[in-house]
Amino acid sequence: MTYASGMLANLGFIHAMGGSLRISPELSWDHDDVVFILDQKSHWSLWKAVDGLGFGRRVFAFRHNDLVSLERRLRALEGRRVVIVFESVYSDDGSIAPIQGIVDLARRFEALTYVDDANGFLAYDSSHERFGQEFAALADVTFHMVSLSKAVGLEGGAIAGPSDYIEVLGWLSGTSSFTATILPPAAAAACEAIRHIENDPSVLHRFHSRSETLRASLEQRGFTLNSTPSYITTVHIGSDEHAEQVRRLAAEGGYLVPIFRYPAVRRGHAGLRLIPTADHTEQQIRDFTDALEGIRRRVGF
Ligand SMILES: Cc1ncc(COP(=O)(O)O)c(C=O)c1O
Repeated sequence: MTYASGMLANLGFIHAMGGSLRISPELSWDHDDVVFILDQKSHWSLWKAVDGLGFGRRVFAFRHNDLVSLERRLRALEGRRVVIVFESVYSDDGSIAPIQGIVDLARRFEALTYVDDANGFLAYDSSHERFGQEFAALADVTFHMVSLSKAVGLEGGAIAGPSDYIEVLGWLSGTSSFTATILPPAAAAACEAIRHIENDPSVLHRFHSRSETLRASLEQRGFTLNSTPSYITTVHIGSDEHAEQVRRLAAEGGYLVPIFRYPAVRRGHAGLRLIPTADHTEQQIRDFTDALEGIRRRVGF
């Protein structure tokens, strides 16, 4: 099922799986008893989507990437219809979900799983050296959502899943029928971009290698980084004010760097989120690291 954006896919999914609709006596769905368990770091669009369902009533959270916490929740909700909602790659800290562990727990407790793979789509698959095992487990999630606004660089979203459920999404999502869905030119361009990456994985290898170079270069200078070495490198800054100063000074030096600050992350946990492209050169990465070191001295983070 396609949507105009990843956010509309998330909203539509929760709306469909949490709602009810009666078209005729033969065609009706009642999901009023379905409960959702979300990783606490799930994207804003997922938390927004469950807003009206009542935290503690039909919505529960488990600690970020913590299988023990998820198991505790599943045990407490045994006997109810449960959908576990999580992301593959978390955008603020670049952490990667224990996908295999989540799928195994879901199987044990007969829960459904929904993965928001916005940030993992095309960047990682089962062939990846470090995270391949987790991404191989994506084949076993019930619903696989992707966004086209990340690796593909366009706009659009999609959910793959069992065909009878996809039909339900068509009826109940709302966001697939009451607004324009992905536009044909965007869909065609996205298919072309996806084919391009699949036919020439060297782009992807270069991309990952640049991320590793950036990470190594920042580590060497003693910056505090996110703990998971994914393609998302987060440089810890701390206060939101310092982060704003870093952004301003970097811009003055010719670098447009995205900062993550409240409300995207907790107050006092601001950072720079860096994703080099496949075309950045090693020299450019070194120059940037030098510049950031100068900025750190001035701001004192
Ligand atoms: C994890 C996650 N889910 C969903 C979205 C929304 O995707 P889109 O930009 O396609 O609406 C984003 C983008 O910010 C995201 O990072």
